[in-house]
Amino acid sequence: MTALSLRMICGFALGDADIDTDADRVVAAFEDVLTEHLGRLYQVPRADPRSAERADEALAYLRATVDRVVAAHRSTGRTDRSDLIGALLEAGESPARIRDTVMVTLLAAHHTTGVAVSWTLHLLGRDPDAADRVAAELDQVLGERAAPDYGDLRRLTYLDRVLKESMRLFPPGPYGARETTEDLVLGPYEIPAGTTVFYPFWAVHLNPEHWPEPERFDPERFTPQEVAKRPRLAYVPFGIGPRSCEGAALATVEAQLVLAVLLKRLRFLPAPGREVTPVERFVLWARDGIRMTVPRNF
Ligand code: HEM
Repeated sequence: MTALSLRMICGFALGDADIDTDADRVVAAFEDVLTEHLGRLYQVPRADPRSAERADEALAYLRATVDRVVAAHRSTGRTDRSDLIGALLEAGESPARIRDTVMVTLLAAHHTTGVAVSWTLHLLGRDPDAADRVAAELDQVLGERAAPDYGDLRRLTYLDRVLKESMRLFPPGPYGARETTEDLVLGPYEIPAGTTVFYPFWAVHLNPEHWPEPERFDPERFTPQEVAKRPRLAYVPFGIGPRSCEGAALATVEAQLVLAVLLKRLRFLPAPGREVTPVERFVLWARDGIRMTVPRNF
């Protein structure tokens, strides 16, 4: 799912550059960079003594890959592109700025969307009634068609609730970070200017004051009536304020589309004997992955 999300973001946001990107290698390179840099941030000893060296190599590989994406884009010579690189080129941004922006976009887009789809399949695998309801809705809205068009997505209201509930229980981006620009008093805490504050979206999503039985998977929490009863900031899968997720609308469409295509044809069941344990690794990841069985007929 992560590799698929990476291919999608290259396709949609980066101008459909027809480059030969090794998705698995890019995913692994981001892993190496994140493991090293998060290890430094959290002061965790790294298991691999070559971690720093590997992260440097991975970063060099990622930069070279992004340069290829940008070069492939330029080489088409087209100026009618409405994608991210096209917009940055048109705005006269420097090559370094374009490379950094593309890199952040690739990073922010590929893990998160893949993880959102994976957790949703995991939750549906454990709730056959909800899975039946999604399948029935897809049959009703799509009929014989294998994939929804944009207009159909609005009619897939139950799928939308399922995705929202999945991102409540397992928010792909489990926290946001901000630096205080002035001294701040928060309840009993005095926080000096220049402090990095981690805002835990995951904990907000499990607050029993707004989410009764918070651990329970219940898409009905996202009917319009239920949503209207809650404060807006009780649910923040894409963060808060001017630095919230830039890709929220795109990510929602991507996740809905992938889920609709998969669940129209297939049913996903938990693989027997495999425990699924969430771990926070910049995104909310499953420690040993999420293994699922896909029956031939259901
Ligand atoms: C389901 C998928 C996704 C989830 C759950 C998600 C979630 C988040 C969260 C929680 C943040 C931090 C917000 C904050 O600190 O307030 C964030 C930031 C960001 N996201 Fe996403 N994201 C997703 C997909 C994407 C996609 C597809 C893109 C790009 C097309 C993207 C681009 C970004 C960028 C650029 C930032 C940094 C914004 C800034 O610092 O100003 N995200 N995302």
